[in-house]
Amino acid sequence: MHGSDTGKAKFNKIRSDLQKMKLEKQQPVGVFDSGIGGLTVAHAIKKLLPQESMIYFGDTVHLPYGDKSEAAIQAYSVKIADILVKKGCKVIVIACNSASSAAYELLKEYVRKDIHIINVIDPMVDLVLNQFPGKQVGLIGTKRTVQSGVYTRKLAEGNKDVTVHSLATPLLAPMIEEGFFNNQISHEIIATYLSDPTLQNIEALILACTHYPLIKKEISSFFQDKLAILDSSEVVALALKHHLEKEGLLNDQATGQYHFLVSDYTESFEASAGLFFHETVHLDKHPML
Ligand code: DGL
Repeated sequence: MHGSDTGKAKFNKIRSDLQKMKLEKQQPVGVFDSGIGGLTVAHAIKKLLPQESMIYFGDTVHLPYGDKSEAAIQAYSVKIADILVKKGCKVIVIACNSASSAAYELLKEYVRKDIHIINVIDPMVDLVLNQFPGKQVGLIGTKRTVQSGVYTRKLAEGNKDVTVHSLATPLLAPMIEEGFFNNQISHEIIATYLSDPTLQNIEALILACTHYPLIKKEISSFFQDKLAILDSSEVVALALKHHLEKEGLLNDQATGQYHFLVSDYTESFEASAGLFFHETVHLDKHPML
């Protein structure tokens, strides 16, 4: 390493340590997603940690991420992380499976150690390794998440002999966003996907997409309620709680304030947002420069 490089590394470390020291309990939690689906994770966080304030960013201009390239999702994610850091978030939760699979490693580097990043994949991988060792586990998600192979890789790294059977189910997210669930159309689309031979003989199913908690019951009843249907929103909220506790950043005094930002506002996004957050949500437009 050159002398100037060593100096730069030291400077970055000092800067990082200083910024870390400045983190306060009252600072909000940053949560982002390709759109409004990540509100399922935001809702689980609100339920578990009602004292925490939250800034949610939904990238409705670029939605859906599930069909985008890794490079495009990385570029969007970096811009969003910048917005959340500038708004003073003490931690960032990537509430989107597609963004977690495409951009988590890059974001960790990008924000360095200043702000901890939590993705939706690792807490689920830990749960599966603990509860389903040696089992055949199915997974449904967007094309980006399935093509990335990230769950398969991380589960293999856990050395618990878990076999993953993944199926891309790209119609499900837009179907749910349009309000099609618990009806005949959704039953038929769900049944068509879940009848795929890829998912035969599985013993648990990972819902690797923000939207799928809304069709969890329909999925479960397709399997006659005999299969464990694993939705990550609650385990992610728990991972966040553990992180905040460990860092002494748990906000135990205030009542959470919420601010929902989107890169493109429409009334229909606002209406759909309520489906995912289980209460009325007011969205504010925030440009992504
Ligand atoms: N949020 C995305 C995910 O969890 C689903 C919607 C999209 O494709 O943008 O993968």
